[in-house]
Amino acid sequence: MIEFEKNPDGVLTPGLLKAIVGQYSLPWRGTHGLPHWARVLENGLRIAEHTDADPVVITLFAVLHDACRLNEGWDRGHGRRGADLAAALRGNVYVLDDRRFDLLHYACVHHTDGLTDGDPTVRSCWDADRLDLGRVHITPDPGRMATGFAARPDVIEWAEGRSRGGYVPPVTRVWEAWAGAQGASGD
Ligand SMILES: [Fe+2]
Ligand SMILES: [Fe+2]
Repeated sequence: MIEFEKNPDGVLTPGLLKAIVGQYSLPWRGTHGLPHWARVLENGLRIAEHTDADPVVITLFAVLHDACRLNEGWDRGHGRRGADLAAALRGNVYVLDDRRFDLLHYACVHHTDGLTDGDPTVRSCWDADRLDLGRVHITPDPGRMATGFAARPDVIEWAEGRSRGGYVPPVTRVWEAWAGAQGASGD
């Protein structure tokens, strides 16, 4: 197995990535594709260092929250579809206790609702996604963040620079290798 450092408890396995990416219908390197998932992961793990967020849930949220999008624009219900995928794969290609799964499911369902209240893990998931809005030419609004850390000007500047610049975290290539050869479709 190819190892990478940002994989709390080894929750991301080749089998899980392959199952998620295999059903993803958009270009792998598109607006909501694997580099976005990877930046959300890195944003989320950084936020988790300053909150009580669960890194395992953050990690699963990163690769699932947009995995069932059907277009790159306004896609009503894609969060719930991602949550449904999380449920379908659970116990099949990954294992997660009920408490963590409930957080993951809720975070996926509501990640586009603009909410800022709730469990620290859920709020950290949402802010990890919000910090990557620069890729669609939106500067993250500190007033809409759900954690104090993600609302910090230096954190927004750091994330926005990576997002607008199209930074591709190294883990992206690991995931593409795990998922198979079709990644070329998004290049
Ligand atoms: Fe989304
Ligand atoms: Fe997203």
